[in-house]
Amino acid sequence: MTDLELMTAAEKARECAYSPYSDFKVGAALLTKRGKVYVGCNIENASFTPTVCAERVAFFEAVKNGERDFAAIAIVGGKSGDNPTFCAPCGVCRQVMAEFCQKDFRILLGTKDDFKVYSFGDVFPLAFSP
Ligand code: THU
Repeated sequence: MTDLELMTAAEKARECAYSPYSDFKVGAALLTKRGKVYVGCNIENASFTPTVCAERVAFFEAVKNGERDFAAIAIVGGKSGDNPTFCAPCGVCRQVMAEFCQKDFRILLGTKDDFKVYSFGDVFPLAFSP
């Protein structure tokens, strides 16, 4: 799985986003160390607080399937109808990453045509972790 393929998987996952309240659609593609990909999209709710981000949907789907070891996540987000723009993971999703990921876990942000790669250690220094 190349970085470009992972970004493309995130863009495809974004098509399933359910976001009638923010009109902001996010897709995530999470790569395990053994090469399997789990995807997620944001799912909003009329009561607002039950809303979950694309990243957490991908992580929980993976963990639910017995996965514990992760290599990378691609995240694409943006207003509905627009091409995705730069979308950084929220603090809650970073905390979920801290439960399962090491500092060298890779985070790909942008679009499939133009993305930057960060490490988890870069985006969440001093994380509270297990
Ligand atoms: N959202 C994500 O899915 N991931 C992020 O990293 C940031 C925000 C979602 C939550 C909500 O449905 C919408 O984007 C606007 O905040």
